[in-house]
Amino acid sequence: MSQTTGAGAVAGAESLPPVFDEAGRRELDAVVARYPTKAAALLPALWMVQRKHGWVSPQGMAEVAEALALTPAYVKGVVTFYSMYHQHPVGTHFVQLCTTTPCNVCGAEKVAEAFLRATGAKRLGETSPDGAWTVVEVECLGACGFATPVLLDDDFIESVTPESVPAIVARYR
Ligand code: FES
Repeated sequence: MSQTTGAGAVAGAESLPPVFDEAGRRELDAVVARYPTKAAALLPALWMVQRKHGWVSPQGMAEVAEALALTPAYVKGVVTFYSMYHQHPVGTHFVQLCTTTPCNVCGAEKVAEAFLRATGAKRLGETSPDGAWTVVEVECLGACGFATPVLLDDDFIESVTPESVPAIVARYR
């Protein structure tokens, strides 16, 4: 899957509060207790960072590394491996649509254009000026028979057409 460029940044790294303050540390301790080792809690710890900040900043990676006694390089390697971790700020709503060949021949590019028009984002990978929407294209979402499939936040939506996009976007406003 592709990763956003974050050109329409909505929250700079310089303004981020710590994730593992007293309450965050208590939550992390409870997560770590479910695993045989501290390191095994890496993925949920990164989710904690993303839930709090909306993305996983270098500061967030450093916090996780320190909290779990891992090297920053190891943490970064995991963050960059999994596309569900945002390495740049993204909009409140994150739209991933498949533009791989089978969906493309069924009109995925038109669906992408419709999302840009409906959200106000200027380009794929950029966040809309109001900070609400980031639209990205991704590789096969495993629903090739239901072009065009879209993952909008945590919701999977099949058979999206350019005509159905405005109503979909309106539901999430
Ligand atoms: S090619 Fe689009 S979901 Fe598989």
